[in-house]
Amino acid sequence: MEPVNVAVVYYSATGNLHALAEAIVEGAEKAGAHVRLRKVAETAAPEAVDANPAWARHIEDTAGIAEAGHDDLEWADAVLFGSPTRFGNPASQLRRFMETTGPLWFQGRLADKVYSAFTASNTAHGGQESTLLALGNTFYHWGGIIVPPGYTDPIQFKSGNPYGTSHVAGDGAPGDVALDAARHQARRVVETAAALKTGRA
Ligand SMILES: Cc1cc2nc3c(=O)[nH]c(=O)nc-3n(C[C@H](O)[C@H](O)[C@H](O)COP(=O)(O)O)c2cc1C
Repeated sequence: MEPVNVAVVYYSATGNLHALAEAIVEGAEKAGAHVRLRKVAETAAPEAVDANPAWARHIEDTAGIAEAGHDDLEWADAVLFGSPTRFGNPASQLRRFMETTGPLWFQGRLADKVYSAFTASNTAHGGQESTLLALGNTFYHWGGIIVPPGYTDPIQFKSGNPYGTSHVAGDGAPGDVALDAARHQARRVVETAAALKTGRA
């Protein structure tokens, strides 16, 4: 059996989502998947970026990460999408990428894949669940198989978000609990995608 192909497609302005994405990559690779880590293109005006040193620095630090393309989605058996909360919704940068996928969707090429999502917000009740659920709306339209972490591992009773890994960025960079939850979510996605791949073969 071919290994499962996983694409991790994310947007991060100041590094929190990037840290979660790296833990997702780690978890997926450990579970035996081939993984592509892909950021989406920055669309903010350079003046806006430059006005926030942490944002400008993060762009520089992640210059070597390839930008997501349609080929990454087509290649993948499973895709994990990561976005910061923006007023309770996914960031426009990630939405913009998702909204370029009409031609793939129309041909049914996004259907039957496994999808899952992760997020961060500044505050504990700042819209993490609504952001994850909003990403899920698109997965429904694509005909995806949504795999949430639920409470399927003891780490979920510590991280506390069954919809997807989430982190309160106002408390600092993601720590062990959020990173372990990300690794668990990735493992669960890979195991589900592998079972589907085996069954279909
Ligand atoms: C325009 C904008 C809207 C935001 N809206 C929210 C929000 O609704 N709730 C919240 O807790 N944080 C909000 N934030 C904070 C971001 O979610 C937080 O900075 C982000 O999760 C950090 O992730 P990153 O380091 O990967 O960019 C907002 C930030 C911006 C710039």
